[in-house]
Amino acid sequence: MDVPKRSLLQAGMFLLVCFPACGPGRGVREQVPGLVTEHAMVVSAHPLATEVGVAVLRDGGNAVDAAVAVHYALAVVLPWAGNIGGGGFMVMRSSDGTVRTLDFRETAPLAASRDMYVNDAGAVDTAMSQHGHRAAGVPGAVAGLHAAHDSLGTLPMQRLIQPAIDLAAQGFSLTALEASWLNGALPALRSYSTQNSTYDERAHWSVGDTIQLPELAATLARIRDNGPDEFYALTTADLIVAEMQRGAGLITKSDLVAYRPVWRAPVHSRYRGLDIHGVGPPSSGGVLLAQLLAAMEPMDVQGAGWQQVATVHRMVEAERRAYADRASYMGDPDRVCVPVAALVDSAYVHRRMSDFDPRRATPSAMVEAGVPVEHEETTHFSIVDAMGNAVSCTTTLNGRYGSHVVVGGAGFLLNNEMDDFSLAPGAPNAYGLVGGEANAIAPGKRMLSSMTPTIVTRDGALFMVLGTPGGSTIPTSVFQVLLNVVDHDMNMQSAVSAPRFHHQWLPDAIQQEAGAIAHSDSAVLARIGHRLVVRESIGQVDAICVLPDGRLEGGADPRGDDAAGGY
Ligand code: DON
Repeated sequence: MDVPKRSLLQAGMFLLVCFPACGPGRGVREQVPGLVTEHAMVVSAHPLATEVGVAVLRDGGNAVDAAVAVHYALAVVLPWAGNIGGGGFMVMRSSDGTVRTLDFRETAPLAASRDMYVNDAGAVDTAMSQHGHRAAGVPGAVAGLHAAHDSLGTLPMQRLIQPAIDLAAQGFSLTALEASWLNGALPALRSYSTQNSTYDERAHWSVGDTIQLPELAATLARIRDNGPDEFYALTTADLIVAEMQRGAGLITKSDLVAYRPVWRAPVHSRYRGLDIHGVGPPSSGGVLLAQLLAAMEPMDVQGAGWQQVATVHRMVEAERRAYADRASYMGDPDRVCVPVAALVDSAYVHRRMSDFDPRRATPSAMVEAGVPVEHEETTHFSIVDAMGNAVSCTTTLNGRYGSHVVVGGAGFLLNNEMDDFSLAPGAPNAYGLVGGEANAIAPGKRMLSSMTPTIVTRDGALFMVLGTPGGSTIPTSVFQVLLNVVDHDMNMQSAVSAPRFHHQWLPDAIQQEAGAIAHSDSAVLARIGHRLVVRESIGQVDAICVLPDGRLEGGADPRGDDAAGGY
């Protein structure tokens, strides 16, 4: 690329001309108040799940107890993302400061193979990687929840599953969003499931309709009575295997019996004196977030202003480079060596940013993965209990309603997480992400994720708990909410509500929510070489911030039915 060589002074003058200062509080929006509570809080994607979690906390349960109860409740009331047929990641911080991360990501079935989605003509069959029985990875959620509870829970598991059983058995009323998404998914649910389920009992669901899920209630009751073996070895396992056989899927009893969640080392980084605790591979989220924050550290983000050209430009250039690294280096750490420490090393990130030009965009075609020096439709909920323990958990079926396969007789949806593998070199997945060797399909391997459940501490004290769904946009949404609080002085709710943008290296475009970047700023960004596209909403962040006086402020994303609750 022909980059004109200008002196720093000239570059500075250009910035002054193109990015005029608007005075104090540049770009800062009006603050939106969030729920504030004294002791404990749950923020989740559904008011009923939030209610279940708050009741557990009031009963003396800790944040992990509440997380288990909320996760099971979401499996009932949020069928498009809450799950027992999927998987996720959890970050837990005990009040003594110990941070643990649990990987309950799905695995490829043992019969999976590298080119299983490449057809005879050499083309990638994304219909098969995204829908139906062969799209499903071996679910990790039930094993993960029980592992978290065995280690850190205090209330009996029965107490934590029962609210979900009751919701499924007695029924719950559909929100407008749920009714509309369910109606949209009905044709696919009917076509990919081999037996009828409660979801397709009606031709059309309306807001306020009560939906009862008796088969799911029975499955959850068996898990309550028999523990995780129920899902991986007993009746529910048999129902999953029978479903796979009817639909020519790959998951066998051996796959289920072999599934294990994994406790992994958290990814730790620092930003402006804060400690950021996230998950490592097989999620790319913690590493990407650490890289993005390190790339912003040298900049006076506050002075540059919220959603102003200079800020957006640097964030996007950081994202472009970080996602290029994701595509090359990241995959299941049990199968490939992911240089996590080298990737999050701030000296490495600063070297990656050394060709950053404040005056123009770097086309993604010119950005390759760096050379780190070796020295490595989803839902999120955030919980803080009265003892100061915190849980940040992101869990998913991948796409909305996952594979659209309801396990016959068991009443729950299976994920379509296989699409998160790189199906062939350079072939984009449902989120447009590309990958290579590190994330190729192999039997038993975990597919690379973007989930970014995060806990932030300041001087050893809990400061923020946050995360979001959104596929490839997850790390950049968490990144923006963090900057909104830390650099732009927004309160938690405003930081979550504020419009967002995203860049992921390929496709080479800034994707923005309508109005996220002002028209005049978009024009300047286009002039310096960025392509901007407007897209539907980005992410659904649920977050909690500890206020200076110790009270908790919730940020529940208005993009969904999300609700904060507490006491
Ligand atoms: O693990 C991942 O990165 C994806 N399967 C997450 C999918 C997701 O967030 C969908 N939600 N909108």
